[in-house]
Amino acid sequence: MDERINLHDYEEAAREVLPGMVYDYYAGGAGDEISVRENVAAWGRVRLRPRVLVDVSRCDLSNTVLGVRVEMPVLTAPCAMNGLAHPEGELAVARAASGAGVIQVLSTLSTYSLEEVDAAAPGPRWFQLYAYRDWGLTRELVERAAAAGYGALCLTVDGSIPGVRERDVRNQLRVPPDLRVANFAHHMPDAPDGSALLKYVTDQFDPGLTWDSVERLRALSNLPLVLKGVLTAEDARLAVEHGAAGIVVSNHGGRQLDTAIATCDALSEVVDAVAGTAEIFVDGGIRRGTDVLKALAFGARAVLIGRPYLWALAVEGEAGVRRMLDLLREELRLAMALSGCPSVAEIVPERVLR
Ligand code: GLV
Repeated sequence: MDERINLHDYEEAAREVLPGMVYDYYAGGAGDEISVRENVAAWGRVRLRPRVLVDVSRCDLSNTVLGVRVEMPVLTAPCAMNGLAHPEGELAVARAASGAGVIQVLSTLSTYSLEEVDAAAPGPRWFQLYAYRDWGLTRELVERAAAAGYGALCLTVDGSIPGVRERDVRNQLRVPPDLRVANFAHHMPDAPDGSALLKYVTDQFDPGLTWDSVERLRALSNLPLVLKGVLTAEDARLAVEHGAAGIVVSNHGGRQLDTAIATCDALSEVVDAVAGTAEIFVDGGIRRGTDVLKALAFGARAVLIGRPYLWALAVEGEAGVRRMLDLLREELRLAMALSGCPSVAEIVPERVLR
């Protein structure tokens, strides 16, 4: 029997192999980590309303995301510094995602450059963007992502000011000198009395980002823009008004504003607010095939998976990420079959109890 049979098992295994500082960086969140826990717990509270006697001898998990076909409604989330988990970092994730027919969303803060990742495996792939104080750096990133054939820009809108992750402050999180912030010529310097990431974000990211900046960014390329980090109907409506093609309902894995609403609980209001005018995605706490099914029943087009692929990457590299995606696919297939949904189109709102 395989040692690891679900996504939780990968976290346990990763805790054994990763240096404590790295495990804490990935596992941790802001403040008391209430939103980190709530993200997971909220999916567990939702109850399913299965239909029976539906022919589920074949279940089709495929879907389209911004018009592109994917083999299942799952994307790998833009997590910073995959090289902390495994030497092949984002390259291994690219190959695993490509093999599984899902979209990888590459972080601005990757340890291989966006061009290196593009060369590692065929897409589709999106580029996650942080806006820098130096607008020239931001513009250059957008132009490079467009030139390399990335299919969308995923602008993180909840991260211009860093949340304080106390585990990182205590551990004095630092990035080893052999790891690059590979999209740039600069390094992430150590912070003498705290988290290097916290200092980097404070020094580099533009805290003055507004809806006007969204327009300005959109004008830099023809790439569809997806805003990641929206939690309210008010902002969802503004996102559509400012031309967003997609929205990721996200609280940054509970890493920014602690006690911010769990993404499962925020999803419906965002779906209702945009009323089909943009595609809605959700991340945060998704660990089971039933969680994916619930997200789709609430109206998400697809989900993003973050920490679980980092754990799998840490334990087994590319093969681990492949297996993690296989496990999630088989759980989703089973959840669809047992609730009478032979295709994603049949995962309708009535499958969840509201
Ligand atoms: C970076 O985006 C992080 O959450 O650490």
